[in-house]
Amino acid sequence: MKIRQDIIDQVKARVDIVEVLDDFLTLKKVGQSYRALSPFTDEKTPSFYVSPAKGIFKDFSSGKGGDAIAFIMELEGLSYLETIKYLAKKYGIEIKEEEQTDEEIARQNERESLYIALSFANEYFKDLLWNHADGQSIGLAYFKERGFTDQVIREFDLGYSLNLWDGLMKAALKKGYQKEILEKAGLIITNEDRSYDRFRGRVIFPIHNITGKPIAFGARILVADKKQPKYINSPETEIYHKSKVLYGIHQARQAIRSADNCYLVEGYTDVISMHMAGVKNVVASSGTSLTDEQIKLISRYTKNITVLFDGDAAGLRASLRGVDMILESGMNVKVVVFPDGEDPDSYASKSGSTRFQEYLQSQSQDFIRFKISEFAKDGAKDPVRKAETIRNIVESISKIPDPIQRTVYIQESSKLLDIDESILIAEQNKILIRKHRERPKEKSATKVETEILPERLLHEQEEQAAFAELDPLIWQEKESVRILLTYGIKEVDENIKLSEYMLQELEEIDFKTPVYADILNSIKDNLKKGLWIDADYFLHHGSEEIKQEVISLTTEKYDISENWHEMYKIHVPRESEIIDNVIYTNIHRLKMRVIQKIIDGHMERLKQEQDEDQQESLLKIISSYKKMEMEIAHVLGNVVAR
Ligand code: UTP
Ligand code: MN
Repeated sequence: MKIRQDIIDQVKARVDIVEVLDDFLTLKKVGQSYRALSPFTDEKTPSFYVSPAKGIFKDFSSGKGGDAIAFIMELEGLSYLETIKYLAKKYGIEIKEEEQTDEEIARQNERESLYIALSFANEYFKDLLWNHADGQSIGLAYFKERGFTDQVIREFDLGYSLNLWDGLMKAALKKGYQKEILEKAGLIITNEDRSYDRFRGRVIFPIHNITGKPIAFGARILVADKKQPKYINSPETEIYHKSKVLYGIHQARQAIRSADNCYLVEGYTDVISMHMAGVKNVVASSGTSLTDEQIKLISRYTKNITVLFDGDAAGLRASLRGVDMILESGMNVKVVVFPDGEDPDSYASKSGSTRFQEYLQSQSQDFIRFKISEFAKDGAKDPVRKAETIRNIVESISKIPDPIQRTVYIQESSKLLDIDESILIAEQNKILIRKHRERPKEKSATKVETEILPERLLHEQEEQAAFAELDPLIWQEKESVRILLTYGIKEVDENIKLSEYMLQELEEIDFKTPVYADILNSIKDNLKKGLWIDADYFLHHGSEEIKQEVISLTTEKYDISENWHEMYKIHVPRESEIIDNVIYTNIHRLKMRVIQKIIDGHMERLKQEQDEDQQESLLKIISSYKKMEMEIAHVLGNVVAR
């Protein structure tokens, strides 16, 4: 579809960013601008800014920003033209489409025809369900027996197909639909010149796209028959790509956003029963494991998924694997397990709204914690199973992109499974290293080491910083001084001493902590005179405070890797072997922390600032620092986690 440029211009001219965003957010006026909680993250204090004068928004918690069109595209997952269409409708502007080439018209027409044919089929099936004698006595009776209300049957557009070979085909042909289109829509099947309906004598569950158009059908058999599949589903078509669709997403999307959580079930009937039980933020994967595209679809609305499992042990173990993929996408995953023999559908129908909702609330638990306790039940006692258990759990943990979250889970697993944390970390490292190795070719083996090790070291450093209750910036300053004192006379390159390189890099940074600033300045001053001073010098010439600091810096135990090497027979290089990396990451980390401090300072000012021009210039400054932060984070190969 093409929209005429003058119409697009007209829409853009008419758009008022506050009016548009107000449909999705609770905007609060502060001075000349508006603020809101970010719809893209689950923040608690508003960092989403709207400038009506400039017609733009900026979301500092996710980094997204732009005009009203960009907002709708991002939030609703619409294309540019779909967004223009949406806005045109909101403002009552009539869409006039541009002339298209014959080929475009043909393709466009075919897709349109498929939508129209599927809508026709859907109306046909619904009409049979409600008005035909068989539909009422067989289809509707079946739904009623399962406890489906009229309201939910209508909300989900459920229908019935007669037990005939060509009921739909005849009706459609009579209405002028081409056989070819009916075939391409997956409604009829042609075998050696004979064509017949795909769906016969079954109840019909239409599958809708996000905007609510039917794009496929699932048809359930009504009698137990071993020879026939329980469901017959539409094939893949030009408009139906199974891997990109979730059953119920159209009916659920508002509820998912407002609950900031999405329940994930297996079947059509689970979705419907849960709706009746008042839980509307639910979608089904339709019996297969989730795809990346489906996860992305959910993540437009929330970062939280709760997977509901049937209560049978065998199926459970198998299903757990699929969940790792959700972790990998950075979503927070919870699980609820139903009692033995129950699924969400049976349990919802049986217990009623209140008790069902209470069950979900009380039983929902963090996925990894659940997995740990599930395996801890039996696996941890048997030494053979134990190794497998550890691998299995650490495998899941290593899927989480955020290193800090990973650390928390490693600690927790260590407690729950009563296994030394270092064993779990070693296992995790093995997996992480393997994962990096398995990456596409262009990253060579040496690159692998340099990529993974700084991250691990950083991680240890951060743990230590947290342990010492130090501000990360101070911690990085301390690290710089430690590295200088420990490795200063080493040569990084043929002729460059580590100290020279590092001092050059530190030139532009003012240390915040007096004691580290003092040490650094002494080193610099002496170096100007051509003297290299090391730890020993400070122990004899420094103030008492400097002495204490230097003692602690040079005696603290940093080289964990030595033990690891002995115990787990994996090669973890000593710090001295990878000192280039250590320095590199230290300097970048230091810069990043400095920048973060500056950003925090400006954010504080922004919150107080009433004047819109001032706000604007603060926003600009913050943006440029954010950009620097991202660049450094990129260099570090490390996602900014704050
Ligand atoms: P279920 O067997 O749990 O079906 O399969 P259900 O929808 O819950 O139906 P009831 O409650 O038993 O009547 C879960 C999902 O797997 C897909 C369907 O999407 C179904 O909803 N499935 C199942 C098929 O596509 N074909 C089948 O033959 C069976
Ligand atoms: Mn089921």
